[in-house]
Amino acid sequence: MHPENPQAIYRKDYHQPDFFIESIDLHFSLDEDVTLVHSQMVIRPRTTNQTVPLVLQGESLVLKNLKLNGQVLNTHDYQVDKIHLTIPTVPTQSFTLETIVEIKPQENTALTGLYKSSGNYCTQCEAEGFRRITYFLDRPDVMARYTTTIVADKNRYPVLLSNGNRVEYGELTDGRHWVKWADPFPKPSYLFALVAGNLHCHGGKFVTRSGREVRLEIWVEPQNHDQCEHALQSLAKAMRWDEERFGLEYDLDIYMIVAVSDFNMGAMENKGLNVFNAKFVLCRPDTATDDDYENIEAVIAHEYFHNWTGNRVTCRDWFQLTLKEGLTVFRDQSFTEEMTSAAVKRIQDVRILRTSQFAEDQSPMAHPIRPESYIEMNNFYTVTVYNKGAEVIRLYQTLLGKDGFRRGMDLYFQRHDGQAVTCDDFRAAMADANKMDLSQFERWYDQAGTPVVDVLGTYNALEKTYSLTLRQQIPANLQAWHIPIAVGLLGKNGQDLPLQLATETNSNRTCIIELREVEQTVTFVNIPEAPIPSLLRHFSAPIKLNFSRQREELAFLMAHDSDPFNRWEAGQQLAQQVIFDLLADWQADKPLQLDPLFSNAVLKILQDTQLEGSIKALMLTLPTEGFLGQQQAEVAVEGLFTVRQFVLQQLAQDHYTQWLTIYKANHHTPYSNEASAIACRRLKNVALHYLCRLDTAETTALAEQQFTQSDNMTDQQSALSCLVNTTGTAKTIALTRFYTQWKENPLVLDKWFSVQAMSYLPDTFENVQALLQHSDFNLKNPNRARSLLAVFSQNQAQFHRADGLAYQLQADIVLQLNTLNPQIASRFVSVFNHWRRFDPARQALMQTQLTRIIQHPDLSKDVYEVVSKSLN
Ligand code: PHE
Ligand code: ZN
Repeated sequence: MHPENPQAIYRKDYHQPDFFIESIDLHFSLDEDVTLVHSQMVIRPRTTNQTVPLVLQGESLVLKNLKLNGQVLNTHDYQVDKIHLTIPTVPTQSFTLETIVEIKPQENTALTGLYKSSGNYCTQCEAEGFRRITYFLDRPDVMARYTTTIVADKNRYPVLLSNGNRVEYGELTDGRHWVKWADPFPKPSYLFALVAGNLHCHGGKFVTRSGREVRLEIWVEPQNHDQCEHALQSLAKAMRWDEERFGLEYDLDIYMIVAVSDFNMGAMENKGLNVFNAKFVLCRPDTATDDDYENIEAVIAHEYFHNWTGNRVTCRDWFQLTLKEGLTVFRDQSFTEEMTSAAVKRIQDVRILRTSQFAEDQSPMAHPIRPESYIEMNNFYTVTVYNKGAEVIRLYQTLLGKDGFRRGMDLYFQRHDGQAVTCDDFRAAMADANKMDLSQFERWYDQAGTPVVDVLGTYNALEKTYSLTLRQQIPANLQAWHIPIAVGLLGKNGQDLPLQLATETNSNRTCIIELREVEQTVTFVNIPEAPIPSLLRHFSAPIKLNFSRQREELAFLMAHDSDPFNRWEAGQQLAQQVIFDLLADWQADKPLQLDPLFSNAVLKILQDTQLEGSIKALMLTLPTEGFLGQQQAEVAVEGLFTVRQFVLQQLAQDHYTQWLTIYKANHHTPYSNEASAIACRRLKNVALHYLCRLDTAETTALAEQQFTQSDNMTDQQSALSCLVNTTGTAKTIALTRFYTQWKENPLVLDKWFSVQAMSYLPDTFENVQALLQHSDFNLKNPNRARSLLAVFSQNQAQFHRADGLAYQLQADIVLQLNTLNPQIASRFVSVFNHWRRFDPARQALMQTQLTRIIQHPDLSKDVYEVVSKSLN
């Protein structure tokens, strides 16, 4: 139990700050023992007639000096507790406040505030890390102008960076040097950054559409100098795209990205000085997979896009987080759709949404995209705020059209540039720019949970009409959502029928139905034959849609739907039906037999020469155990595992020659980062995985050959993950070889840990236990910890083994992380959030661990919040 019983903060309690900080002049003296932070602020009371105390936040700081308007304050004039500095009486006009504090970055394992990574200093201030650097009004609606002077030993820390422009620099006589930075844009404290270290610069430039030249710099540890070019190219692409699509130009003369090895999240959009998890910067064909390349481009774009959506226009308070994150994720998704393939990207994004976000909605941590309360803000950087938030932004675009959405964005920037605003302000800009009533739309921000819509279709042969009746299931205390549902109707030949609503004169192939009521019926006219509807095309809303279909119909859509997303979706639904029917057989002790209709549908995909390779690879991939488990009232851990393995094995056998043909046809494409070469690798590697299910000498030889001969990480990793599931000696040989080859490259070594944690063989847990003792395992490094443990916890059948040993291990780790790094601890404990969805025996085992955790005497707010909600 937590001794101080942490209190929740509520959205409804928002008040404007009593003071604003106009400017802050920071001075850092970085030293191996203690770092001194000297700050000089100009503070302005919000009103001149107020007599309220000044309460600044500060955590893990040792206050050394405090001056108000140049006068040293004596200890009666202020109070310091663990998290505040309070000055009861301050002037009613603007005044200056000067503080000196001591901090110890070298002891900071939480990786928030100022810390060290690989010997370099760096900062992470979002959401509330700045208060671990100095006393401040650490809230996003306090926007100040920053100047920052950094002093450090010149040999160890030749590079000294902060936000904005470098305005002065010099050397001291004692071997130290200094640099002063000035950021002309007022910003909230969460966007502050500082970096000091021995770093290599990979530079470039970008000329904005108005002709200004911007210097681009990617800073990395010197040994990584040859892994920066893709990041640089991605940045330039993102800058161009934002100009073209949204008319948004960069606003400083320099844009810096620093790659660090120890980072809690993906990356951080600090003004002019992004700090990145090295994973989203560094790549080279032999060290990074195709997915890594794509993720790097997307994350670089995401952080760049924040410069407008997040930095120029920021959040009033942390409840508004989705204002910047949902919008920026939507922007990076749209960017990737245009840079790669819209359909492939959409399928990938929907997969994440459904496996993680829909699951979160089913858990005790469920919250609206704009939460009503939190205990620890860091717990709300969630798939709901980010990914569902992006879906909600997409809804505006679907409802208003691309041009309408752009008009709304333009108005949003016109009204709010330089301000800290709310989700309501964004919605108002969208509504006003399009003269549209979006009041019902607010429910997407207010209501947690995944809407469920039941659909019925009726064809009237006499009238030649087709009607769809849509009904929202509205949980108690909630109200109907405003949901755009994209619909098409397929004729018997598989072509789209022209659609004409009874109220319309022209026709379309896809029509958007705006569902606002609990129940609505729409009727299409001039429909010559009973059609097969294609519903929720392109996944037009983040909902669950129920429409009952025969397998034949799903196979038909899988083969013919003109919407590639729904073609994929039909295949997934068909696979799911097949798997659940087999599960019933397995549970009834009946022999398993794969439905030939499904096997044939897969064969048709295999043989389809028109289908783009990446989509084909996705269509040949079965829904995961995790996703399937979510569809059940009680997750059938062993049953799902067994049945899914059976289906994969059966498909491998049924189409052995076709898999082999596909494998060979795509194996010799030379490496390039082009979409067509990527598609070949995806297809080939899916084929290899099916083939290796057979675990024969021939299939293992194929994987071994690919493993030893590949010139790129996509192929090497894929072959390794096949070999890890084989039962002969090939597995150990490959693992040893991979380790020897890559032990000096931490990001590649992470893959070595992950591949083993993902194995479906029954000794995976014992392996994970052994790997925890490996000399290269390090719980303090989030990437390494995740590569083994977060990956293992997603391996449903192995993590949820019936004896509960994996639960116990996970809880041990959570308690260790609780002291080292509460943010990561809280992520790791979240796997238990779903405990009530399992069978009674597993529930009891997980509950035991949760209870053990909550009884721990020094529980962080982070872990306390998640576990207490879970047990409630
Ligand atoms: N704001 C960062 C992003 O999305 C994420 C982040 C949050 C990073 C908190 C660090 C800490 O882009
Ligand atoms: Zn973001």
